[in-house]
Amino acid sequence: MDNPSDVGTPVTDTHTPVSQHAPTPSVAIHHDPTVVDDTPRELTFELDQLQVTYGRSVAVKGVTLGIAQREITAMIGPSGCGKSTILRCLNRMNDLVPSAKVEGTLLYHGVDVYGPTVDPVQVRKKIGMVFQKPNPFPKSIYDNIAFGPRVAGASKNELDDIVEQALTKAALWDEVKDRLDDNAYGMSGGQQQRLCIARCIAVSPDVILMDEPCSALDPISTARIEDLMAELKDEYTIVIVTHNMQQAARIADRTAFFTVVSGEESESRTGQLVEYDLTEKIFSTPADERTENYVTGRFG
Ligand SMILES: Nc1ncnc2c1ncn2[C@@H]1O[C@H](COP(=O)(O)OP(=O)(O)OP(=O)(O)O)[C@@H](O)[C@H]1O
Ligand SMILES: [Mg+2]
Repeated sequence: MDNPSDVGTPVTDTHTPVSQHAPTPSVAIHHDPTVVDDTPRELTFELDQLQVTYGRSVAVKGVTLGIAQREITAMIGPSGCGKSTILRCLNRMNDLVPSAKVEGTLLYHGVDVYGPTVDPVQVRKKIGMVFQKPNPFPKSIYDNIAFGPRVAGASKNELDDIVEQALTKAALWDEVKDRLDDNAYGMSGGQQQRLCIARCIAVSPDVILMDEPCSALDPISTARIEDLMAELKDEYTIVIVTHNMQQAARIADRTAFFTVVSGEESESRTGQLVEYDLTEKIFSTPADERTENYVTGRFG
């Protein structure tokens, strides 16, 4: 794989190991989130006081956290607290919303994602996205996967390999290897979602972002995607937004809980990060009462 940070000029000269990541005083980190099983991890993303405004309304503010490499990080919280907004910042998808303005700092392997030297197209190649509703192209299964690599200039032989590898990694190869020329719309919803994950993998990303990837799927397809994520995290950094708390508890190494705070003007509601920690801690002994109320179902 290419250098994962190859999207622009680093603003720091080395990757910051998680264990050296000193939170700023206003950070909503109540517990050192930096070590899992005593293994220090590098950070893929460092968010510092990230804020997103749509027009004049601040959607989410003050988000400071580090997302560790090759882990699954979950973002949970009530509707409208800014989970999708923060997720879309990570690969500059918010650029596509004209009224969106991003402030604060977002580093990707030490590179300022919103810096002047960064090409958003390169960012989105390294940081792929899987959406709530599977969105295959109206093309064959093969061409769905081959699309990105073909644009990048891969040969027919290379494409055959890439398609097989991506479908294998997405746990779909055995189910579709005899019907690669069939239209992807003929697949089940769960298969289509795995196809979208395979399409994402085919362009050799470093990170996979997932916004409620299982909310349209039945429990069996959901379990398959969760198993798949657990396998993929050996190679990729995964960030998932989910409303399914059992899902976050099952699969995420760390979990960030967001909430919505009402402002002085009655219509102003702003998302905030309440707590970010190891998933086990968030679901067993969270530091903030709001987190406890949410994860125990007393709120939201
Ligand atoms: N394109 C947009 N234009 C204007 N406002 C937006 C846009 N997208 C989101 N918002 C606003 O930003 C806030 C956060 O929205 P966001 O979609 O990030 O929340 P969320 O936590 O993902 O919610 P949900 O769980 O319902 O998906 C909301 O108040 C929402 O109305
Ligand atoms: Mg959302």
